[in-house]
Amino acid sequence: MNELLITNARLINEGETRDADVLIVGERISKIDSSITPADDVEVIDAGGCLLMPGMIDDQVHFREPGLTNKGDLATESAAAVAGGITSFMDMPNVNPQTTTRQALAEKYAMAEHRCTANYGFYLGATNRNIEEIKALEIGEACGIKAFMGASTGDMLVDDPVALERIFEHAPIMLVTHCEHSPTIWDNEAKARAEYGESVPLSEHPAIRSAAACLKSSSMAVELARRFDALLHVLHLTTGVEMALFSKAHRSEKRITAEVCVHHLWFDESRYEDLGTRIKCNPAIKSASDREALVKALNEGRIDVIATDHAPHTSSEKRQSYFKAPAGLPLVQHALQVLFDLAARGEISRELIVDRACHAPADLFGVRERGYVREGWYADVVIVDPEKPYRVEKSNLLCKCHWSPFEGHEFSSTIDTTIVNGEVVYRDGELTKNIPGQRLEFARAR
Ligand code: DOR
Repeated sequence: MNELLITNARLINEGETRDADVLIVGERISKIDSSITPADDVEVIDAGGCLLMPGMIDDQVHFREPGLTNKGDLATESAAAVAGGITSFMDMPNVNPQTTTRQALAEKYAMAEHRCTANYGFYLGATNRNIEEIKALEIGEACGIKAFMGASTGDMLVDDPVALERIFEHAPIMLVTHCEHSPTIWDNEAKARAEYGESVPLSEHPAIRSAAACLKSSSMAVELARRFDALLHVLHLTTGVEMALFSKAHRSEKRITAEVCVHHLWFDESRYEDLGTRIKCNPAIKSASDREALVKALNEGRIDVIATDHAPHTSSEKRQSYFKAPAGLPLVQHALQVLFDLAARGEISRELIVDRACHAPADLFGVRERGYVREGWYADVVIVDPEKPYRVEKSNLLCKCHWSPFEGHEFSSTIDTTIVNGEVVYRDGELTKNIPGQRLEFARAR
């Protein structure tokens, strides 16, 4: 079996940071100690004092396969993900055909085999009519059930009140929701059209996809979850007003949890002027005070998970006018660097990054033996150099769509090495072309 020894690392794990060496044997972590002497035939990676952490588990991505592979696919986007220190991902069902049956789910898993650089899990999509598929789901068959309680890319709106009640009542595993009240948004769109015609300025996006639309929908999701005692995870929150819906209790004590995405922690509405449709996403990036409220809620424990909502679209699609340009941005390659910049600015701690981007998704979805650096667990780890700046250029972008909202930005940290299932997949700015991604195992029932 392959043996790999990481020496001289500053290990961030389980709320603390300490000096550690980590020995990997095969696909597992075999030993963690302050000093491990290498055997003769062991490959050694000297971390040189850099940070070592579990790989990020991204609980919300859109890798576009099947059917939308001109934008991205499981192979290209999972490779970009490991370059960003993401070692596991959970992919959304708004593909073509939509992943709304157990058969489509099985086909998607078959499609992923031997093609993903990172570990993978897939959601079953809820519709107004597929309650029988949802009820039949077995634990572990999907990472969760996704309900678009607001319309977004892919025409998957679930808006029949009776269907929603049945989904909340019967979902056998975690229910995750996109919360934006569509009728409110349609009304705002009509008003914007009346005022600007087709030339709506991007700066109107947060007024159209408004805080009120978010609050109305997320309040409804929380109310339904309480009524039916569902396990609910509300995705990509964007506003301060919604934060009171979520408790500060530790995730182990909650049945309703919350997620924030890196772009909502990083950008605010002042950036529509220079980035335009590049940062058009649903829910919209909102005001500076909303961004601050998200950071505060994250620090308080109201927000449990940090994810990306990686949603690539081609640059020609994004170059269109407000209504035509699709919502979503590619993020997996730079998510951890965003978070380490926020830590460098003192907004969050490094331990919090590891807790919310690695440990929490593993706990909430019951991901088996990943998300922590522990002896006997899978060796999914990342070495981050917090002192080495990294400039985002077209030439170092790996996503298929080949653009990034961060082009030209210099991050304060660099992803040095990523290891998935004990295999080095990314090192010194290069993919090694190993494809060790495995199907994630999920153990949590409602
Ligand atoms: O901005 C977004 N893009 N939000 C979503 O909910 C969907 C995603 C996509 O698939 O493009």
